[in-house]
Amino acid sequence: MSETYTLYNQTVMDHFQNPRNMGDIKDADGIGEVGAAACGDIMKISLKIKNGRIEDARFKTFGCGSAIASSSMATELIKGRTIEEAMSFSNQEVVDALGGLPPVKIHCSVLAEEALKAALEDYVKKHPEVAAKAPAAV
Ligand code: FES
Repeated sequence: MSETYTLYNQTVMDHFQNPRNMGDIKDADGIGEVGAAACGDIMKISLKIKNGRIEDARFKTFGCGSAIASSSMATELIKGRTIEEAMSFSNQEVVDALGGLPPVKIHCSVLAEEALKAALEDYVKKHPEVAAKAPAAV
């Protein structure tokens, strides 16, 4: 195994090589796309929301392996959560669930948090009644 691979644990490698939830959602309720200024990578997360709960989450990431693994894990973690729960989602959850990322790759997990929050903001913009219920959340 090359030295590059030893930077990453098996969970990260698994989500990089077998990403879950890759793609788009037809008629998504919320879409968030963000870019990392430092590296130029781009991440897009699409959400299907039903009865205030995230029913489906998909991603498309143009970026490094950590960004792909982070998107994969983030979409797994947020499925089934309420909008309110998802609004307090943090990149630390992704890092923990992946069993850790090298310090120089933490910003890749931040991209997943930002893409999710952008998708939630998009949803709330289209559904102002949700914003009235949780004004401080986004
Ligand atoms: Fe850019 Fe990972 S190096 S998101």
